[in-house]
Amino acid sequence: MKFTFTSSSKEQTRKLGALIAPLFVPADVVLLEGDLGAGKTTLVGGVAEALKVNEDVISPTFNIMKCYFKGTLPLYHIDAYRLEGQNIELGLEEFIEGNGVTFIEWPQYIEPLWPDEYLVISLTHKGGDSREITIESNCPRLDKIVETVKEAF
Ligand SMILES: Nc1ncnc2c1ncn2[C@@H]1O[C@H](COP(=O)(O)OP(=O)(O)O)[C@@H](O)[C@H]1O
Ligand SMILES: [Mg+2]
Repeated sequence: MKFTFTSSSKEQTRKLGALIAPLFVPADVVLLEGDLGAGKTTLVGGVAEALKVNEDVISPTFNIMKCYFKGTLPLYHIDAYRLEGQNIELGLEEFIEGNGVTFIEWPQYIEPLWPDEYLVISLTHKGGDSREITIESNCPRLDKIVETVKEAF
C-alpha cells in the first residue's frame, strides 16, 4: 500500500513521525529515502519526541548508529551514508531484528540487512520548505500505518 502527500514545513514532517510512532512494535524497520536535507532526520526527531525519548535526535552520520533507550520503545537510528561500498560486518542486524523500531537513512548501502517486511518513507525536495512524501508498506500489518497516515494527511 502506498500514499503520497506534501509536507509544507519541518513541523508537519515531525508531526508525521509523531503520528506513526505509537504504531510500531519491536523489530519494525523504516527505510528512509531522500537526498541530503530532505528531512529524514527531522522525521525521526518527531518519532523520538512521541516515544518520549527525552533527547534531541541528531544526525548519526559520524556514528553510523544512535540508540535511544529512554522512551516507550527503544529507537535505533542508523545512517548508512558512510557505509557505501563497505563490507558490512557491524552487527547492525542485532538491532534491526531486536527489541525496538529502527529507522535507516541511506538504506541502499545496507540492503543485505533489510528484513522481509518494512515501511519505506521517501522525501523529495519540492522547492522551499515543501517536501513530497511517499509512504509505502510491503505487508498487511504495516498497511495499517499507511492507512493511518492517509486518514490524517
Ligand atoms: N517540510 C520539511 N520537512 C522536513 N524538513 C524541512 C522541511 N522544510 C524545511 N526543512 C528543513 O530541512 C532540513 C532537513 O534536514 P534533515 O532532517 O537533517 O535532512 P536529512 O536527514 O534528510 O539529510 C532541516 O534544516 C529542516 O528544518
Ligand atoms: Mg539525516
